[in-house]
Amino acid sequence: MGDNTQTFRRPMLAGNWKMNGTYDQAVHLVKSLSRPLSLEDTIDRIICPPFVYLEAVGRTLVQESVDIVLGAQDCAVTANGARTGDVSASMIRDIGCGVVIIGHSERRQHHGEDATILTAKLLQAYEAGLQVILCVGETQSQRAEGQASAHVLQQIAALLPHIRVDQTTLAYEPIWAIGTGLTATPEDAETMHSNIRHYLQENLAEWSKMRILYGGSVNAGNAASLAQMPGIDGFLVGGASLDADAFVVIGQVLATAKKQKE
Ligand code: PGA
Repeated sequence: MGDNTQTFRRPMLAGNWKMNGTYDQAVHLVKSLSRPLSLEDTIDRIICPPFVYLEAVGRTLVQESVDIVLGAQDCAVTANGARTGDVSASMIRDIGCGVVIIGHSERRQHHGEDATILTAKLLQAYEAGLQVILCVGETQSQRAEGQASAHVLQQIAALLPHIRVDQTTLAYEPIWAIGTGLTATPEDAETMHSNIRHYLQENLAEWSKMRILYGGSVNAGNAASLAQMPGIDGFLVGGASLDADAFVVIGQVLATAKKQKE
């Protein structure tokens, strides 16, 4: 593919805490991430706690001098107004977040988020000055039918006219691998990342800057084999991000892999 731009893509490790933990656990987890790390300044680290803990987690990150960016797991489709229970991108920015996850398969599945909704969220996030982690991924049956790439590329195509390269990171998360303990093989993940990059190359200016993360049961044990793949620029981690030791190890794995790739 002639992709010689690898070194310009800084690895990213994003932790998606989902709807887990208590206030005390959230603060404790951040404090556990504050220990000094040798290689970690070469990667971007992000944690996305539940909305109600964002302020406490953000405050603790500052107090403990932890070099991790605060992120949210979702944002609303409008900037403000009569939308009971929603949280807008500008509020998320206001509380200190730099990042928001959009299009996670759990949102697509449980909240019926389609391309129209995701486009609105994307535009809100960009407008608020947030970086977006945009998730895509296929189901088990789509993969079994040989439709994995077609589906993922279609998900990207549906949003492509709106995607801003400088504010977006893609996360490829096969749905069958999320929270199941099943991980895509490094080769299968690499193939998908390569397919995505080919597609971006043909359809998006400045495509080579786009980071593509892998997500789906990444843990301290399997991170190294995935991280060594040239097209994998980092991870979006769910379950293992609730374990400070695992999150630290995965970050170190990414930093080490980056050095080896250079
Ligand atoms: P998991 O979740 O690491 O628990 O599989 C990943 C995600 O949903 O982002």
